[in-house]
Amino acid sequence: MKLTVIGCGYLGATHAACMAELGHEVLGMDTDRDKILALGAGKAPFFERGLDDLLAKHTASGRLKFTASYAEAASFADLHFLGVGTPQRTGDNAYDLSDLFAAVRRLAPRIYRPTVVVGKSTVPVGTAPRVADILREAAPAGEQAEVAWNPEFLRESSAVEDTLHPDRLVLGFTSENTRAETVLRQCFAKIIEAGTPTITTSLATAELVKGSANAFLATKISFINAIAEVCEAAGADVHQLAEALGHDTRIGHRGLRPGLGFGGGCLPKDLRGFMARADELGADQALGFLREVDAINNRRRARMADLAREQLGGTFKGKRIAVWGAAFKPGTDDIRDSPALAVAAHLHRLGAEVTVYDPKALDNARKAHPELDYADNAFDAAERVDLLLHLTEWPEFTGISPERLATRVAQAKVIDGRGTLDPTRWRQAGWTHRALGRP
Ligand code: UDX
Repeated sequence: MKLTVIGCGYLGATHAACMAELGHEVLGMDTDRDKILALGAGKAPFFERGLDDLLAKHTASGRLKFTASYAEAASFADLHFLGVGTPQRTGDNAYDLSDLFAAVRRLAPRIYRPTVVVGKSTVPVGTAPRVADILREAAPAGEQAEVAWNPEFLRESSAVEDTLHPDRLVLGFTSENTRAETVLRQCFAKIIEAGTPTITTSLATAELVKGSANAFLATKISFINAIAEVCEAAGADVHQLAEALGHDTRIGHRGLRPGLGFGGGCLPKDLRGFMARADELGADQALGFLREVDAINNRRRARMADLAREQLGGTFKGKRIAVWGAAFKPGTDDIRDSPALAVAAHLHRLGAEVTVYDPKALDNARKAHPELDYADNAFDAAERVDLLLHLTEWPEFTGISPERLATRVAQAKVIDGRGTLDPTRWRQAGWTHRALGRP
C-alpha cells in the first residue's frame, strides 16, 4: 500500500519507518526541513534504538521518502496517518491542538479522491469529529474523506519493537466508515495476522483508550511511590515490597518500579490533558484522583532534594554534587520533563555546583540547562564531589565500581533515586548510601 505520515517527530518518524518495514510505500511529511533532510538521509534527529537502521534500510531501498510538501503528500496516497505533536497549552493544562488542525487544514483542500485520514496523535476525546468537520468543509472529496483513529502506545527506547509488535491494535471508526476499516485492516494485516488483539471501537472510545492507558500507568507508578513515602516513614524497603506485590498476577511487576517518578513528553502532559478534558465534559469528579497522582509524582523530586540537603549538613552553598542521568529514562536522549534534570537544576538554584553526566542526553541537557556543568563520563562527573545522585537508571551506572569511584570523590556519599545501585556493595566500599524508599 501507499501511505503518508504527517508529522515526523518520535511517533511519526517511527511509524513511517515501521510501515516501510511492513512492506508499504511510505512518504513522511513534516514542515521542519532540517528534520526532513536528516530523515531522508536515513538518520533520526533523536536517539531511538533500531530506528536509524530501519531508516537507512528503507530510504536506500526507496520504499521510504520524506517531503515538506502537503501537495506531494496529498497526491502520493489515499491513506494519511496524523502524527503531529499535541503539546500542553501554555496558560492551562489542556492540549494545544493548533498544529494538528493546521496540518489537516493544509492537507484537506488537496484531497480529491476517496481518502482515509487516521489520527495517531494523543488528543482529548472529541477531537476526531473536529478533524472530520475540517475535511468535510475543505476537502473537494467531501464525505469521501473519512476519519479513523488509531492511538499509538509506543514507549521511547523500545519504539520500533512496540510499533512492529504492539500489545494490541485499537481502531476507531464512525458507524458509517466501513471503507476506512477495510483500508486499515489491510495496512496492519501483518500485525493482525500475527495474532495481535485488535479492538474496533467508536472514535470517542479509541481516543479515550489512549488517555486512560497513560493515566493508569501514571497511577501505578505514583501508587508505588506513595507506598515509598510510607516505607520511608516506617523504615521499610519499597523495592522489596514492589517485588512481592508484583508476583500477584493481578498487579504485575511492569510499571511498578518505585523511584524518582515519571517524566517525559507523554505521561505528565497526558495526565493533565486528560483531567482538563474531563473538567470540560463535567466529569471532573471522576478524575479528581489524578491530581493526587501528579502531586505524588512531584513530591518524589522534592524528597530527593530534602535527602540531598540532609546529606550535605543542611546547606547546598559551596557544595559539589554529581548527577548521574539527564534523560527522563534510560535508553533515550529525550530530556522533556526529566525528573533527573529537574532535580539537578533545582539544586543548582539552591546554591550547589552541579555536574551532570548522561550516556546519551548530554547535548540536549546542555542546550536546555546551560547553567549546569557537564562531564563526559561518570567518573569525571564525580571528581571531588561531596555527594553523588543517581537519578536515571542507565545500566552503565550499575556496573561502576564503587571502590574505584570512592578514590575520586571528596565525600563518599550517594543517594540512589532509582534503586538499582546495590546498597550492600556500596556500603562495603565505604559509601554512605541512601535511597528513595529504603531505610
Ligand atoms: C509512555 C507510555 O508507556 C506509552 O505507552 C505512551 O505511548 C507514551 O508514554 P514513555 O514516556 O516512552 O511511554 O515511557 P515509559 O516507559 O512509560 O516511562 C515513563 C516514565 O515513567 C519514565 O520517566 C520512567 O522512568 C517512569 N517509570 C516507568 C517509573 O518510574 N516506574 C516504572 O515502573 C515505569
